[in-house]
Formats: sequence, C-alpha cells, structure tokens
Amino acid sequence: MDRRQRELSPFAARPGGLAAILLLLCLALTGCTATGGGGSGAETESGDAGPGVGASPQGPAVSGYPAFDFDARTVTLNSGYEMPILGLGTFSLSDEEAADSTYWALKAGFRLIDTARIYGNETGVGRGLQRAIDEGVVAREDVFITTKIWTTDYDDADAAINTSLERLGVDYIDLMILHHSQPANDVDAYQALERAVGDGRLRSIGLSNYYEPEDFDRLVEATSIRPALLQNETHPYHQSGQMKEHIAQYGTVLESWFPLGGRGNTQTLFDDETISDIARAHGKSAAQIIIRWHLQVGNVCIPGSSNQQHINEDYDVWDFELTEAEMARMAALERDARFSNY
Ligand SMILES: NC(=O)c1ccc[n+]([C@@H]2O[C@H](COP(=O)([O-])OP(=O)(O)OC[C@H]3O[C@@H](n4cnc5c(N)ncnc54)[C@H](OP(=O)(O)O)[C@@H]3O)[C@@H](O)[C@H]2O)c1
Repeated sequence: MDRRQRELSPFAARPGGLAAILLLLCLALTGCTATGGGGSGAETESGDAGPGVGASPQGPAVSGYPAFDFDARTVTLNSGYEMPILGLGTFSLSDEEAADSTYWALKAGFRLIDTARIYGNETGVGRGLQRAIDEGVVAREDVFITTKIWTTDYDDADAAINTSLERLGVDYIDLMILHHSQPANDVDAYQALERAVGDGRLRSIGLSNYYEPEDFDRLVEATSIRPALLQNETHPYHQSGQMKEHIAQYGTVLESWFPLGGRGNTQTLFDDETISDIARAHGKSAAQIIIRWHLQVGNVCIPGSSNQQHINEDYDVWDFELTEAEMARMAALERDARFSNY
C-alpha cells in the first residue's frame, strides 16, 4: 500500500496500518466491505431495513481487525457471533427512560442495546425489550444485548451474571463486558465469564477501559477466550488508534463510548468546523456525520439518547457515505483529548 492509499484508507488515523493490511486481506478473501451503502435486512416499522443478528456457535478464533458488513449492518465477532455495528447507549438513563429509549430504538431499527449493572437501568432495558417483543417489533434473537460487570462485583462475577440475566429478563446475554481494568481481580472475573460462555448464559465476552496494550495483554495472557470487543472512550478528538491497532491481532473489535463526546460535551464536537462543514455538505446533522465516521473507520458505535427524535436521527445514517477526503479530514481532528478522566 503506498502513502496515498494509506492516507485514503479508513484506517489512516492509525500509523503503521497493520489493521488496514489485515482488513484488505479480509476484503480480498471474503469480499466483505468496510464501507458501504444501504441495507438489505428485514423491514422495520420505520420502513428502514434492520440487520439480521443471526446467532452462530463459537467459531475458531479469527485474527485481524473484523470487517464491517454495511449491508447487514453487522460485524462478525471473533466468537463467531454477529453483532450490529450501531446501537443505543443507555448511560445515565433512569429505568423509565431506558425502557422508553430501548423500545423507541428497536422501533427505529436499532438491534443493539448497551447497558451496565452500574447504570441501574438493566430492568428498564429489559422492559423496553419485552414491550417490543410483545408488540411484534422484534424477537429476542434479533436483538443483541450488552451489559457490564461493575468492579465491586468482580469477586462474585458468577452471581453478578445471574442478577443481570434476571434484571434484563433474558435467558442469555449476547455480550458481557468487564467494566474497568482492575488488576487485583479482573482475571478471576473474566474466568467466571468464560465459564458462563461454556454453560450458555453468555455468548461473547468483552473488556472496557483498558487503555494500555500491556494491560490488555495481561488479561489476554491469563485467560482462554480472546475478548470479542474493547469498549473505550473514542470520538474524533480521541480516536483510539494505538489500542485499535493492538487489538487487531486478537480479532477484537473496538466499540466507542462517548461517541458524540458524552452528555454535556456534545456541542464541542457538533460545533467543530470540520464536522459542521461535512454535515452541511451532506445535508445531515453533526451527530449523523460523527456516527457515520465511527462506522466507516470500523468502530461499533452506541450513541446514548433519551429523546425519540434523536434516536431516529442517529439510526438514519445508511443513505450517505463520507468520502475518502472527508475521512482524512476527520482523521486529522485527532488530538488525544478525552472528555472523561476515568
Ligand atoms: N464503558 C464505559 O465506561 C462507558 C462510559 C460511558 C458511556 N458508555 C456507553 O456508551 C454510550 C454512549 O455514551 P454516552 O451516552 O455517555 O455519550 P454520547 O453518546 O457521546 O452522547 C450522549 C449525548 O448525546 C445526545 N444526543 C444523542 N443523539 C443526538 C442527536 N442526534 N442530536 C443531538 N444530541 C444527541 C444525548 O442527548 P439526548 O438524550 O437529548 O438525545 C446525550 O446528551 C453510553 O450510553 C453507554 O451505553 C460506556
């Protein structure tokens, strides 16, 4: 790959381009796409095509950064399961808000919902899911549910899994994540998650808030199942290039939290001159441009919202594509600046 190709690659933000090479290899071998247009999945109530989230058994571990399928709107994880690439975040929503947002999101076409024990709204997410199932909007198996184990539960992770299952009202969880690195006992907790994969309570396992390659490797070397996903703060001002390149060797996909900058910070990104300029060019909102950038650069994106109009808008990102030049301009916004300090 020459220098110009590297600059135009969706992975241009990450020096070295290992992930880009692996992705191109995948493209050559499988014909899968990293960028693309409209979908071809089942019709949803909004008239928009939703993805199929077909479950498949744990496959062999895949190396290389997983490629996104924009037609299906999914990525195949290194666990062998398909995961939607765009989901709803529920941080800071009450149970009631989470129930409404989950229901609205499923009606809009979202098939991925992200919650956590520490958000205190797993019950609400479960209620929103059940309402959508009862009304025939989705079936359980169409929806990918992520939750996270909080650090104070690491010593009793097995019980924490059962409690999350109960609160969500489901008999399996698609993805369970260790919420934070905690060297004292995160390996023990992860091993409990591995056992729950073995007995079918969990399908895939992920990590969150591991910001150093050595810390990620510490966990990987002490455990058996490679993390399917790493959820870290990631947005145009903190693009997570180093970690993303590092986890590609494990076939682990990056998921962005604070994809829009986080509550209270979004206007900083929405007002960014480059982002608003690209938004004008496409007749889209700044939020939609940022979400589309996450997807095209290969980040699973989970914008949080308690507003039905925003939820509909956040899912309406399939009918346009950022150009290579626009992706290069977005890559240039990197400033290694996080909005959160944990
Ligand atoms: N692993 C971790 O440690 C961690 C930490 C933080 C978050 N997360 C996860 O990541 C998800 C995303 O992060 P986040 O929710 O904190 O931040 P975010 O998605 O970056 O931003 C959420 C903010 O964006 C606004 N918003 C959403 N869509 C909008 C639109 N179309 N136009 C204008 N404003 C819009 C929301 O307001 P409205 O409600 O008014 O729409 C809310 O204020 C969380 O919900 C959570 O699931 C994980």
